[in-house]
Amino acid sequence: MRTFPKGGPMRIGILTGGGDCPGLNAVIRAIVRKGIQCGDEVVGFRDGWRGVLEGDTVPMDLAAVRGILPRGGTVLGTSRTNPYALEGGADRVLATLERLAVDALIPIGGEDTLGVATKLAEAGVRVVGVPKTIDNDLDATDYTFGFDTALGVATEAIDRLHTTGDSHHRTLVVEVMGRHAGWIALHAGMAGGATVVLIPEQPFDVDAVVAHCQRRFDSGYSPIVVVSEGAKPKNGELVLATGERDAFGHVRLGGIGTALASLIEQRTGREARAVVLGHIQRGGTPSPFDRVLATRFGLAALAAVHAGETGVMVALRGTDIVLVPLAEATAQLKLVPVDRYAEVEVFFG
Ligand code: F6P
Repeated sequence: MRTFPKGGPMRIGILTGGGDCPGLNAVIRAIVRKGIQCGDEVVGFRDGWRGVLEGDTVPMDLAAVRGILPRGGTVLGTSRTNPYALEGGADRVLATLERLAVDALIPIGGEDTLGVATKLAEAGVRVVGVPKTIDNDLDATDYTFGFDTALGVATEAIDRLHTTGDSHHRTLVVEVMGRHAGWIALHAGMAGGATVVLIPEQPFDVDAVVAHCQRRFDSGYSPIVVVSEGAKPKNGELVLATGERDAFGHVRLGGIGTALASLIEQRTGREARAVVLGHIQRGGTPSPFDRVLATRFGLAALAAVHAGETGVMVALRGTDIVLVPLAEATAQLKLVPVDRYAEVEVFFG
């Protein structure tokens, strides 16, 4: 890579990878706005690592970021492309960065996108990562942006479902996102007063779920069951997946809510319906919390590349933005601890 005077103007590549997430545009805007003030040139790669592999770029000037702060999604587009799963993929990435004279790369993504960033940093690319995922399961940061927005959507859905469920005396099962970690289910279930919350970290007992629903009916109200898409029963039944996998090997999930609703209906003898929130949780305008966190992450990432940092990720610790080693941040997922689940269990039934 080119050497550059520390603190001087740079050519910075940015990309957004993995599932989209409210707040991505706020990060992009912050990098571009501050970068322009520093005399930088910002190159946007389209659709995550695909854009780097193919040299598909878009110039990111002031006009490109006007009005994008409150917009969901990502103006750069995204993909789940994994250069390391493709023959010669890493070399193609390095060749693009060399050809475009990119001094530093700021990839914005979750465990997969930042996993690629970690390997590139080890290969000598100057990289500062920005964590994003609505799942909030990236280790080394207290929160990722996108989570707060998704949580707001899920909580509002639960509030709405309480009133219709009680009117019809039926169980409503709400399936939320969360492949490996149940943060959205845990927080939305607690905020929305769910009857039961089921998360991937805690295999559930079907009999206990049915008993909680029955108790709720007995008290004159209708149950709301919040289930993460990745939750599994203890005995292994109800495991649902299409079998399709993405470039990072993740199975496409979905269907646990519907299966659970039909089981609860059979066992309680009362009607049960499932509501799958799916991508509604990922779309739309970011919450103020997510806009602020994303903006602060963008500013900190830009400052870090100017300070000559590499192989690091910006992270939130308390109210401070800090730098953590990328390798450490992507080594393991941040799962819901047992004691956090115990807190929400107090309200079951
Ligand atoms: O990782 C974020 C996430 O929203 C997961 O909760 C979910 O399993 C996955 O992405 C779904 O991805 P996609 O919509 O791209 O298939």
